Amino acid sequence: MQNIKDIYNFEINCLKEAVKHASNPYHTFVLSTINENFPETRTVVLRDVSISPLKIHFNADYRSNKVKELIENKNSAVLFYDKDRKVQIRMKCTATINFQNDISLKKWNATALQSRKCYMGPYAPSTKLKDWHPNVPEEFIDSNPPLEQSQKGYDNFSHIELTVLELDILKLRYNGHIRFKVEDEKIYYISP
Ligand SMILES: Cc1cc2nc3c(=O)[nH]c(=O)nc-3n(C[C@H](O)[C@H](O)[C@H](O)COP(=O)(O)O)c2cc1C
Repeated sequence: MQNIKDIYNFEINCLKEAVKHASNPYHTFVLSTINENFPETRTVVLRDVSISPLKIHFNADYRSNKVKELIENKNSAVLFYDKDRKVQIRMKCTATINFQNDISLKKWNATALQSRKCYMGPYAPSTKLKDWHPNVPEEFIDSNPPLEQSQKGYDNFSHIELTVLELDILKLRYNGHIRFKVEDEKIYYISP
């Protein structure tokens, strides 16, 4: 039987690796926020993982609903699933939104030109449209913006840090599933 601390450390390492590799199943995760009485859920890209305290990071358009929802209520839930290894990670998190500050600037400077154009859209995300529009400047639909013009995207760029309050790992196994929780630096089994 594997020690749950070892499983935990292994999974945290997988999360760190996933930041760098788009093919890693943990490269994207499902983020749920609270919108009045309804949960809202969507996929985002894992951009960073930091330790002590454990935080996961993603980027978002500051004008988007998810950011509005996190400003209104900083509590969120996160889901990762590795289909091949059959491991699910659930997290309860609290959000810090970095917008027009030192942290957002540092992250923006590390953002690829290709990603920057997503923040240059004329419309706020979720705006009702009469006709199709990809919401990137038309001149850059098939190309990357030059560095100087790409800086316009910084007006809408935000970097979100999710501090993990509670973590639930489920590892499916033919010879008995393993499930455990990590909270307040305590780690303990729970029934699968
Ligand atoms: C594979 C994938 C990755 C995505 N990554 C991000 C991301 O990193 N940040 C983001 O804001 N939206 C991302 N999106 C788009 C969101 O899922 C969502 O559709 C959009 O941001 C609007 O969400 P909202 O209205 O809840 O704010 C991604 C979508 C997919 C399918």
